[in-house]
Amino acid sequence: MDIDVSKYFKPNLSKARRRSKSEVQHDNFEINEIHKNLGHGKKYWIQTYGCQANEADGETMAGILKMMSFSPAANENEASIIIINTCAIRENAENRVWGVIGRLKKLKIDNPDLLICLSGCMAQEENVVNKILKTYHQVDIVFGTHNIHKLPDYIQTAMFSKERVIEVYSEEGNVVENLPKFRNHKKKAWVNIMFGCDEFCTYCIVPYTRGRERSRLKEEVIKEVKELNNNGYVEVTLLGQNVNAYGKDFKNLDYTFGDLLRDLDKTGIKRIRFTTSHPHDLDLKTMEAIRDCHSVMPFFHLPVQSGSNSILKRMNRHYTKETYLEKLKQLREIVPGISVTTDIIVGFPGETDEDFMETLDLVRKANFEGAFTFIFSPREGTPAAKFKDDIELEVKKARLYKLNQVINDGYLQGNKRFLGKTIDVLVEGISKNNNNTLAGYTPHQKLVNFRGDKEKIGSIVPVKIIEAKTWFLMGEMI
Ligand code: 5AD
Ligand code: SF4
Repeated sequence: MDIDVSKYFKPNLSKARRRSKSEVQHDNFEINEIHKNLGHGKKYWIQTYGCQANEADGETMAGILKMMSFSPAANENEASIIIINTCAIRENAENRVWGVIGRLKKLKIDNPDLLICLSGCMAQEENVVNKILKTYHQVDIVFGTHNIHKLPDYIQTAMFSKERVIEVYSEEGNVVENLPKFRNHKKKAWVNIMFGCDEFCTYCIVPYTRGRERSRLKEEVIKEVKELNNNGYVEVTLLGQNVNAYGKDFKNLDYTFGDLLRDLDKTGIKRIRFTTSHPHDLDLKTMEAIRDCHSVMPFFHLPVQSGSNSILKRMNRHYTKETYLEKLKQLREIVPGISVTTDIIVGFPGETDEDFMETLDLVRKANFEGAFTFIFSPREGTPAAKFKDDIELEVKKARLYKLNQVINDGYLQGNKRFLGKTIDVLVEGISKNNNNTLAGYTPHQKLVNFRGDKEKIGSIVPVKIIEAKTWFLMGEMI
């Protein structure tokens, strides 16, 4: 057996903070003959929390489990292995997971052979692993974001030695290619183009949980998108914590995100989206590629976080309110009509009323058509967790409420500009609220509900927009 089970590999935040100049390793996933049969007659259940990177990781885990002959369970009760794939971005995301782990204890008592695994960003945190070791004995396997490819080894060890497996790496991370995927959707696919983040915004745990910024080889990304297109996929969303930094780690190659968009446009895939971007890495080449490439959708998620220059500085964001708005103006000049959304944090330590007013002012000037808004959540190990925070929770909540009012107005205005127009909609399924209605997304990422035949699910159809609500559009199929 490969693993020394007598030794746990626990995460270490100070190691996770380190960044070196060494070249990124590109490895290949392989599975051996023993692993291929371990899951015969057994079922798996994966519960994923958090961002698209986690969704994509969950699909990789499912792909690996299928290669091991496991099949998907209809619910957690019939599973032989349960993976809780976690998010660490804010405290409430973590609290939810502790509740789930607590609840699973009963399943484990009823079925001692059940394997319960914890993966994802929480697994990369020292305090979480210590708590699991001390209190949550129902968890059999803990693995992090850097070693999903070793899942078969961990399952083998846990099944046969009945030992707990705790293996979380904190080094900067390599890139593993050839990973199998069992995708949740038949027409839309996540495609990782890079991993990790080197920005170290002071509030954010991600650079610690996901390691250094490292890009997948362009040939591998292009191959994956070509295959998806050949297999009937219509839309890909390119994933990275900061896609605008794609290619910066290539040693002898001048090839960045804009180049990748142009190459992917030639694959024949109908729709390309990407998330997420950092304003200070967004360059002209990317904006021009969006303008020139028919398949790259006119939608941009550009997190701003705050409109106050002093807060932005303490967040370590490397731009000001003015330079952000300038970049947005340039983007809108180059790609007229592009829809822009953002992320904003309120209640960052020391945020004054004036700072918050600056944020509201920026939001009004930026014409965002949507935003994810959050109250600052201190993350142990990050610099901002140590900043003095003397703002009352009630004040933070009131700011969030006020901000959301302005943002919601932006949603509505953004939707109204499509009234009376006929737009291509990728039909995703039946509307959540009405069985007789189809739901899909426009190139600008607007949700449209309209009456139509279920056979259209998965295809792109022209829809005339007849009504604009805050959260969605109503349309008629042409
Ligand atoms: N507290 C609140 N929001 C956060 N985000 C990241 N870290 C924190 C935190 N500690 C938000 C940012 C980021 C989004 C994914 O989550 O707005 O863009
Ligand atoms: Fe976190 Fe900032 Fe990196 Fe985004 S860019 S993942 S907010 S550190």
